[in-house]
Amino acid sequence: MNEPKDKSKSHRVATSDDIEVSTYLEIAKEIQGVQAAPKTEELPHGIKEAIAIIDFGSQYSRLIARRVRECNVYCELFHWETPLSKIMELHPRGFILSGGPASVYEKNAPLTPVGIYESHLPVLGICYGMQAIAHQLGGTVAPGSRREYGQAVLHVSEENSPLFYGLDDSLTVWMSHGDNVLDMPPGFRSSAYTENSPNAVITDGAKIFGLQFHPEVVHTPQGISIIKNYLNRVCGCHGAWTPGSFIHESIEAIKKQVGDGKVICALSGGVDSAVAAKLVHAAIGDQLTCIFVNNGLLRREEAERALNTFRKNLKMNVVYVDATDSFLEGLRGVLDPEKKRRAIGQEFIRVFENEATKLGKVDFLAQGTLYPDVIESATPESKAANKIKTHHNVGGLPSKMALSLIEPLRYLFKDEVREVGLQLGLPEDMVWRQPFPGPGLAIRIIGEVTREKLDILRGADWIVMNEIKKAKLYRQMWQTFAILTDVHSVGVMGDFRTYGYLVAVRAVTSQDAMTADWARLPYNLLATISNRIVNEVPGVNRVVYDITSKPPSTIEWE
Ligand code: XMP
Repeated sequence: MNEPKDKSKSHRVATSDDIEVSTYLEIAKEIQGVQAAPKTEELPHGIKEAIAIIDFGSQYSRLIARRVRECNVYCELFHWETPLSKIMELHPRGFILSGGPASVYEKNAPLTPVGIYESHLPVLGICYGMQAIAHQLGGTVAPGSRREYGQAVLHVSEENSPLFYGLDDSLTVWMSHGDNVLDMPPGFRSSAYTENSPNAVITDGAKIFGLQFHPEVVHTPQGISIIKNYLNRVCGCHGAWTPGSFIHESIEAIKKQVGDGKVICALSGGVDSAVAAKLVHAAIGDQLTCIFVNNGLLRREEAERALNTFRKNLKMNVVYVDATDSFLEGLRGVLDPEKKRRAIGQEFIRVFENEATKLGKVDFLAQGTLYPDVIESATPESKAANKIKTHHNVGGLPSKMALSLIEPLRYLFKDEVREVGLQLGLPEDMVWRQPFPGPGLAIRIIGEVTREKLDILRGADWIVMNEIKKAKLYRQMWQTFAILTDVHSVGVMGDFRTYGYLVAVRAVTSQDAMTADWARLPYNLLATISNRIVNEVPGVNRVVYDITSKPPSTIEWE
């Protein structure tokens, strides 16, 4: 049995407070002969304390970043091959090494970037990250007799470990590993064990820590406290980062970047482009012109409402183009979902460029690119995932216009963008709008898109949305919508036989759209939705509810 821990005192470990910020680049230079000067204008705005996460390819790397941000500490993910000089431009107060699918003893296995252990900054390795520490610092990592997967009980054996400050001696943790640290690197010791892992937590007693389990997943209930302890007690972070704290600096940076130049921004009606535009507008006012292309594939009243908000409430310059005819013309006879996406994407570029040209000389394009897009476009897994569907987002299209990019949200997650939007005074219904795909209703109509089908789908979609909002479930759902299938079936209304459309209803919960579960909506609510659709939407006589998760399905039907 361990002695009960004295929670009042904690171990004094070296923190990055011990190092002057100005010496960070000195360290990098020392280690790599780097001459890089800190490019402050390239740093994310408003960042005082940051953590660098080294990504070894785990499916949870992004989740680690989310957790660190939840502790109000700014962080960024870096691919494990990123040179230290680049990482040091963030001025990190410490590192987190992610998990990963490889084994450290394999040929060409990912390794921690050269110089991190020698940087005198704290390091926390998670799963593969811990094995990388052990392997690179002279310990032995080998396959375990069996894979450990699922929950385990962790017994903390070291008193006063800063990571476990304020926590119990026995914790439920979540494991997923085949390899184990057999021999500790010189100077390291075990701080905690589980039934199958004698070295479930390792440390050099000063600034390097390794966890065999995953503190970032919800199945480790106290994982967030462990991460917080690492950030506060080991790295010396104060947890002062909030998405709002970047607004002021971001506005200043946009002013500086744009000078007296002209900026255009494509509004989609969604939260990302709305927040990006609002931020740019706050910085440079009427030097910004937004272009709102109505592709005729939006939901009922959507274009009018968004336009009203931007023009009347927010007093922004918005060019509104109703290009319904040309989009529908481009979609005539197109049945294949990918061809639909391409047709819509091409038409969008054509209309957008046409409008932009009318504005005379334009220098910048503002876009609502978010951090997950930035991470995804940099990882090989996402390239594979992209082959499932080509996602056409409204921004980022007119490359031949040779505009410089302004992407004020490229370091933020979606919920952080919402917070910024609220602080900037965007209306709640815009900020909390569920995601809506760029190709709009076209990928919710199976088969050819026609005006008649769009009208039917709009009617059904309006009812779904209306009832979900009435039931106060809108914000809990990732997306809720209707799909117009190409199935007709027989029905009876009054004394008449009908042969009408089959409408499907989809409601999913999700964190990030990479996986999703179908929502267990109350039967009464489903009954009301179905009843209203068949009664109020002419041409529809049957409604089904989609009860498949992603995977194996996707959220959209096309
Ligand atoms: P899937 O259907 O792939 O959708 O599970 C995942 C998320 O992406 C949205 N989605 C799109 N968004 N252009 C977009 O801008 C597209 O072509 C597109 N396809 C799907 C979808 O609504 C969901 O949120």
